[in-house]
Amino acid sequence: MALKFAIFGHPVGHSLSPVMHAANFAALGIDASYGRFDVPPEALREELARCAGEGYSGLNVTMPHKKAIMPLLDSLAQSAIDAGAVNTVKFLPGGKTEGHNTDVGGFFADLAERGVEIAGKKVAIAGCGGAGAALAAGFARLPARSLHILNRTPAKAVALAERLAAGSSAGAVVGCAFALSSPEAEYVFRDADIIVNATSAGLKQDDASAIPPAAMHSGQTVCDIVPVARETATVRAARSAGAVAIGGLGMLLRQAVLAFRIWTGLKPDVEAMREALDSAMASGGK
Ligand SMILES: NC(=O)c1ccc[n+]([C@@H]2O[C@H](COP(=O)([O-])OP(=O)(O)OC[C@H]3O[C@@H](n4cnc5c(N)ncnc54)[C@H](OP(=O)(O)O)[C@@H]3O)[C@@H](O)[C@H]2O)c1
Repeated sequence: MALKFAIFGHPVGHSLSPVMHAANFAALGIDASYGRFDVPPEALREELARCAGEGYSGLNVTMPHKKAIMPLLDSLAQSAIDAGAVNTVKFLPGGKTEGHNTDVGGFFADLAERGVEIAGKKVAIAGCGGAGAALAAGFARLPARSLHILNRTPAKAVALAERLAAGSSAGAVVGCAFALSSPEAEYVFRDADIIVNATSAGLKQDDASAIPPAAMHSGQTVCDIVPVARETATVRAARSAGAVAIGGLGMLLRQAVLAFRIWTGLKPDVEAMREALDSAMASGGK
């Protein structure tokens, strides 16, 4: 019997998950399908139940459902609890649902693959929406020397840091009470070893750098998680300042790799997934 998977989002037309997973199924010779379902928020519960009833093996979940799906699931893996969001659902025997988060694991797997060490480093993260908060929680658990959280709306950064500081192994978790574009923010970014842009700035072609260009320099690693193939203004500014710049496609690939492992317990063909992602990006012109 063919295995069934799908992604829920609203909108979902832009998602590259179907392309990556289909390439992997083909490379492994697995008889499986991967659907793309545009699910409005009011239909989320019903669609989840439908997939459980129809024998689906797993789902990916993207905006705006990553938090909303959590109370609808039978259980949550530690990754989802830590991140406060679910991007992967596994259907257990009998149709029970288990929520996981592979965005955070995907981000850190991509950094590890590139040889970026976190231990002892000063980290500054811009943005604390769903993705930023989940990554900040990940950094707070690692032995980073310090974690500074900055956000366009500073009060959210302060509130998140207060929540994370309690259970953190990082030397210090600081929510910055000033705007991303302030001189104080520039100082914090300049002082960091690793900078992460987890804001949505960069999704649009003409978005300016999310990180003040004057704050970036050689010796730093700058990660822009915006999942586009083109150079974002943040990546461009980081490169021209001499920093190591990492775009968001590696994280996108690695979260899919982890999701497949959770669903099936099998080792995916990562190269087939990477090639499919690259060629979809090239033909989509993103
Ligand atoms: N590579 C991957 O696999 C991957 C996975 C997940 C997410 N992402 C990317 O991560 C980014 C954030 O996603 P999300 O789910 O966290 O979104 P979200 O929950 O809507 O949060 C958006 C964040 O961006 C900030 N922001 C929005 N527009 C901004 C602007 N023009 N200037 C400065 N800050 C701005 C918001 O600040 P306020 O609080 O002030 O509104 C908030 O911190 C998106 O680009 C998304 O595509 C990538």
